[in-house]
Amino acid sequence: MNDETKKQINEKYEREVSKGEKFWPDTIYRDLVMSLGIFLLLILLATFIGIPAEPKADPSDTSYVPRPEWYFLFLFKFLALYGQIPVLGKIEWIATALIPGVAVGILALIPFIEKNSHRYYGKRILSISIMTIMVVGIVLLTMVSEVPTVAEDGSKLIGILQTIMGIAIPLAAYILLFLMSFVFKSSTRTMIWTTVISALAMIAFTGATLALAPESTHEEAEVATTLVDQILAGQDLYSVHCAECHGDDGSVAVIQGVEGLEGEKITPINSRDVLYTITDSAMGEVIAYGRPNAGMPPFGKTYGGELTKGEMDYITIFMRYMWDDRFEAPVIPELFPPLADGEVPSYDVHLQPIVKRYCISCHRAGKENNNYLMTSYDEILKTGDNAANNIIPGDANSYLLQVIQRHEITDANGEVIIGVMPPSNALKPNIMDVFTRWIMNGMPQTAEEAAKISPPPAATPAP
Ligand code: HEC
Ligand code: HEC
Repeated sequence: MNDETKKQINEKYEREVSKGEKFWPDTIYRDLVMSLGIFLLLILLATFIGIPAEPKADPSDTSYVPRPEWYFLFLFKFLALYGQIPVLGKIEWIATALIPGVAVGILALIPFIEKNSHRYYGKRILSISIMTIMVVGIVLLTMVSEVPTVAEDGSKLIGILQTIMGIAIPLAAYILLFLMSFVFKSSTRTMIWTTVISALAMIAFTGATLALAPESTHEEAEVATTLVDQILAGQDLYSVHCAECHGDDGSVAVIQGVEGLEGEKITPINSRDVLYTITDSAMGEVIAYGRPNAGMPPFGKTYGGELTKGEMDYITIFMRYMWDDRFEAPVIPELFPPLADGEVPSYDVHLQPIVKRYCISCHRAGKENNNYLMTSYDEILKTGDNAANNIIPGDANSYLLQVIQRHEITDANGEVIIGVMPPSNALKPNIMDVFTRWIMNGMPQTAEEAAKISPPPAATPAP
């Protein structure tokens, strides 16, 4: 800088100062008002909106997967991606200590190394570019933090996409930018384009990753966070996948109503014999691999089944807390609200959860069930080889009511056409009662429809 420019700058500075405001008290005052405003806003947000507390820590819950707070998720993801890199990925301290250390170190040293005398953005392209790519990277890594690095089916594609986005592109961009800045002395414009193109490429790879991401991981992470939620999730999965052979409470000793396994003798899986001898991890393996020789199919995705590791863990948790007397079950919400005298149940509130727990494992597509599917209101009313007789409004002889009350349906020759339902173990009386009231009152679907035909709640007797 020569004397002439110095003089100019000083004059400009004097001019600005003369029309500007004073740091004390003007600026300080404004800052005070502003910070007070933000403080009040935070108090209001915390009071009226707030953030729900997380469930209490449960030391006996072995399935808890700790995750960092959201603002650290990018680093968490970065470490996971770094682990994917061949050879280097094995040297953990590079990612856990060296890279963050260098990044923080540079921030701390910036006042000493950054001697650029210009304040104009156009003259500070290198630092702005580096920061832009870093911020874009942080946002994108946070966005994909829920996406697994290795897909359930073992495919690496999704991990490769993420590694390109989170590590390869930023690294290449940084190397290019440094070369342009110090070796080739490229134009500002070239550097800006490099930055923009890298950022867009990172966004494109993130889009591809999210499009390929399996949906279940999201639900799973959200659905079951508390122990009760996990038990309920496990019970739902158990009802659909296992109740068919083992019964809704694991007590079945002789399989009935299952193609190919009719009359097969099995050990009740709610017994101490099974629960005390099979550890949690062995249970996971029994479910994943099945007992192919005995007729239990594999359920784990690795062996061609439908369940993820997390889902199988929920089933194990459900079995432990509900059946194993060494575990104390927390209070589990009722399957359906108990009925008052004369109250009419509805499909939405009462029947749907009952059918899901006790019938769906067999009454869904692909199972032997006389083509009677029970996964929706319409299916329950309209499907089945004997659809015309299964459910007849107001008729206590509807086939469905007979079979759940353990009366077989026989044809003209005395041949059994429908066995008792569920085939292995009887429903509890209160559940039979729900089916009966529902069919006798014309099968209302919604709670409102049911309320219309229920008698009004008993009025308080006049004095
Ligand atoms: C198609 C029928 C069928 C289904 C569905 C089924 N199982 Fe089984 N399961 C069996 C048979 C058969 C055996 C062997 C029983 C025996 O040898 O006593 C068995 C055995 C078991 C055992 C005991 C293993 C042992 O070594 O004693 C457990 C635990 C078990 N099943 C859990 C489950 C769970 C959990 C599910 C649902 C994810 C499930 N089963 C689904 C048929 C089935
Ligand atoms: C273990 C498997 C299994 C379970 C659980 C089960 N069913 Fe069935 N269901 C069958 C099979 C198999 C048939 C075919 C008839 C037969 O073999 O008895 C059938 C047939 C029926 C039919 C006759 C359908 C038609 O149109 O012919 C009705 C009604 C029925 N079940 C009701 C129920 C209800 C209600 C539940 C739950 C409370 C239930 N079932 C649970 C296996 C099952």
